[in-house]
Amino acid sequence: MHVPVLLNEMLQLLKPRAGGVYLDGALGAGGYSEAILTASGPDGVVVGLDLDPDAVRRARARLALFGERFRAVQGGFQDAPEILRRFGIHHIDGAVLDLGLSSEQLEAAERGFSFLRSGPLDMRFDPGAPESLADLLDRIPEEELARMIAMYGQEKRSRRIARAILSARVRGELTTTEDLARVIARSVKFGSGRIHPATRTFQALRIAVNRELENLERALEEIPDLLNPGGRFCVLSYHSLEDRRVKHSFRDKASPNRSKWLLVTKKPIRSPEEEIRANPRARSARLRALEAVR
Ligand SMILES: C[S@@+](CC[C@H](N)C(=O)[O-])C[C@H]1O[C@@H](n2cnc3c(N)ncnc32)[C@H](O)[C@@H]1O
Repeated sequence: MHVPVLLNEMLQLLKPRAGGVYLDGALGAGGYSEAILTASGPDGVVVGLDLDPDAVRRARARLALFGERFRAVQGGFQDAPEILRRFGIHHIDGAVLDLGLSSEQLEAAERGFSFLRSGPLDMRFDPGAPESLADLLDRIPEEELARMIAMYGQEKRSRRIARAILSARVRGELTTTEDLARVIARSVKFGSGRIHPATRTFQALRIAVNRELENLERALEEIPDLLNPGGRFCVLSYHSLEDRRVKHSFRDKASPNRSKWLLVTKKPIRSPEEEIRANPRARSARLRALEAVR
């Protein structure tokens, strides 16, 4: 099962309390939701969102013992205000977003997220979303793909990789994630040594397929306005493109208007070495929090 990253640190920042209403915008396996429900007993409420219907189903089963205190909805955190309104919730006492993908998604070959397992070219968090990776590769011009790989993957060899991907696709030699990893590895000949040569491109394609940065920006804009005074918004990001957005958004909110927002984390909270050793996903995690001032 997905092992939550920086769980205790997140709880210390969020400070769930009895009777509070909380948003877990990226439910995953429900590890954060479970901890918030436990800490806000006997009557705190958590609304959990995930684009992935499998995640919603699994979290519902795992957290069924909390009864009415837990609600799971298939939906995006970028639409949180609208979804909460449907439940008659207009204000919350705290929110968390644990970005990226869960171990369940990475390990399910058929979801197409992993270059270590052969699966379809999919990568959608929401399998009902209109465009899979295969659809994207069939419509995108080479220049645009190269730009995307450079920008979202911070990959220097983006032009070469984009050309290799699209020509393999046209030749009918690219139908699985295994093919994709091979085409990328071949096009760059050797990697940087530390990471698999396909790592950055896979990250870039996943961000593009799921519009991850647009969704994050919308959430950063809208979720703070839902907070009751004293409520905190905690965001965990896993790469610099996300973290930069979180940092700037929190800083912009807090600096000109100190009477409304307080930056709780001047610097991001990182995982301790023991956590990184036990859970490699923790290595790149950065946790930041913003508070609605009383
Ligand atoms: C790292 S996991 C969360 C793990 C969770 N904190 C736990 O303890 O189990 C991230 C989850 O966010 C979901 N996700 C990604 N983008 C989303 C979005 N825009 N809205 C809602 N969920 C999203 C993914 O489907 C994935 O299940």
